[in-house]
Amino acid sequence: FVVDWDISAAEKGGYEHFMFKEIMEQPRAIADTVNPRIKDGRIVLDDISLTADYIRDINKIYIVACGSAYHVGVVGKYVIESMVRIPVEVIVASEFRYCNPLVDDKTLVILISQSGETADTIAAMREAKRLGARTFAIVNAVGSCIAREADDVLYTWAGPEIAVATTKAYSTQLTAIYLMSIYMAQELDMLTPELLAKYIKALEKLPDNISKLLENKGEIQYIASKYFNSKSVFFLGRTLDYAVALEGSLKLKEISYIHSEAYAAGELKHGTIALIEEGTVVVALCTVKNLFDKMLSNIKEVKARGAVVIAVAEEGHTEIEKEADYVIYLPKCDELVMPSEVVVPLQLFSYYVSSLKGLDIDKPRNLAKSVTVE
Ligand code: G6P
Repeated sequence: FVVDWDISAAEKGGYEHFMFKEIMEQPRAIADTVNPRIKDGRIVLDDISLTADYIRDINKIYIVACGSAYHVGVVGKYVIESMVRIPVEVIVASEFRYCNPLVDDKTLVILISQSGETADTIAAMREAKRLGARTFAIVNAVGSCIAREADDVLYTWAGPEIAVATTKAYSTQLTAIYLMSIYMAQELDMLTPELLAKYIKALEKLPDNISKLLENKGEIQYIASKYFNSKSVFFLGRTLDYAVALEGSLKLKEISYIHSEAYAAGELKHGTIALIEEGTVVVALCTVKNLFDKMLSNIKEVKARGAVVIAVAEEGHTEIEKEADYVIYLPKCDELVMPSEVVVPLQLFSYYVSSLKGLDIDKPRNLAKSVTVE
């Protein structure tokens, strides 16, 4: 009897791929990022120099990042603007330097990077500093270039991420954005004690909710087994769901090589709907409560043109079963943190599709974990 054992298999903790292991580690990674920052019912960000006086004077926030980290920024814009009422612009790092950005000493530039070594993000950070902005980095790799050079660093405690397609780093970056938004609102006295307690509870509940979701992975695997040969997949959502649609679509492209686009659902009728034909797979994200009915209408529009619809909705919204072909239900949670749940089935879907196609999930073609050239 010979045991087939090697170091890299051991590091995968018994899983076949790093990506799967990292998906499964998300509850732990989120808890590690949140728990040390909550003390006596308040958000405490040690070593962060953002004072109430400074925050009050901010005229504009830029969020600058690449790839999935940029998609975290798109969520961040919705969350920060609704919570702190400061205008936020999200921009990919490779554009920032060349667009003559409106930055001065009252501008806060948030850089998001797993590696802390992405060349475009480093260059954007240096340009922001040169223009007089304060820089705030959300980084996973301790001691990386961005962590060293930014004025403030809020670490995500995802641990090492090996798979090229990010999962747990993305999730902990989202968590860091929630923490930072609640922190700013708390420092500005914009939250009643009840509201602050509600947000903190929502953050603390996330790991359990995501664990529950991960238990239902068989359902996603089944859906993937039906559609892994698709030529094209569309992801639709509105506001926060649209931000997550961007990430779901990128994940699928990266590891399955299926053409995919993310669309703000209301924009569909301005062109993209022309691409919907019999059997086109549409993933409809329907978790934003006040836009649920609008999403139902969008589902009807694509169904009428022959699409197969996989909907993602919060538990209890069963009326969607009348319209969609499949519904993936998510545990109830505060809308603020819902993106963290929505992304999980999308990660699993991409993973299973890539696996069924027999592709190299952890090292997709043409992609690098950290892009250190501009
Ligand atoms: C590469 C990776 C992506 C990542 C992006 C930004 O393209 O494949 O997963 O989102 O770089 O990387 P960073 O380390 O700055 O988060």
